Amino acid sequence: MSVANHAMTQRARVAVLISGRGSNMTALVEAAKAPDCPYEVVLVLSNKPDAEGLRLAAAAGVPTLAIDHRPFGADREAHERALDAALREAGAEYVALAGYMRVLTAFLVQAWAGRMVNIHPSLLPRYPGLDTHRRAIEAGDAEAGCSVHLVTAGVDEGPILDQARVPVQAGDTPETLSARVLAAEHTLYPAALARLVKR
Ligand code: GRF
Repeated sequence: MSVANHAMTQRARVAVLISGRGSNMTALVEAAKAPDCPYEVVLVLSNKPDAEGLRLAAAAGVPTLAIDHRPFGADREAHERALDAALREAGAEYVALAGYMRVLTAFLVQAWAGRMVNIHPSLLPRYPGLDTHRRAIEAGDAEAGCSVHLVTAGVDEGPILDQARVPVQAGDTPETLSARVLAAEHTLYPAALARLVKR
């Protein structure tokens, strides 16, 4: 086996959970094309069968799967048990949430403790939850940004692995600020994930 092949077999196996457009997932997949990237994306999994990100992942040659949450009704854990089975079937060692829009139960959080990360579009602990850019603008913040954190039971509460900062500019709307933060997310997430799998 060549040195290059040997390095490939050592790469950490990452599954990405999405619900929508999948731009952070795409950033993770793109970064994994570098020969020295310490992870590979082995599955992109969505709770929404029509997620744009599934189409993008398939076009990039990454295995995809949708497990619709709706047939599970109010039984969120049953849906997560199906997700968990798919993650294990894919041989995932880490899970990256990338715009996965469902609050997790203790089951999935505990199953992947220390090996599940999320990206959030604010400088946590500021602005957990939704509508982060509007809240930052309304608070008059000079800076906004994004955070990559380990996933724990509380929403957007786990230990922060890394953050990136961007300025809030005069006249910013939630849309203009969101675009600036999103560009920072696309750099931060692959770098933070690479550091996590190497440690
Ligand atoms: C990103 O802003 C991410 O920080 C948040 O949800 C959004 C997902 O966007 N968790 P995308 O699907 O990665 O384009």
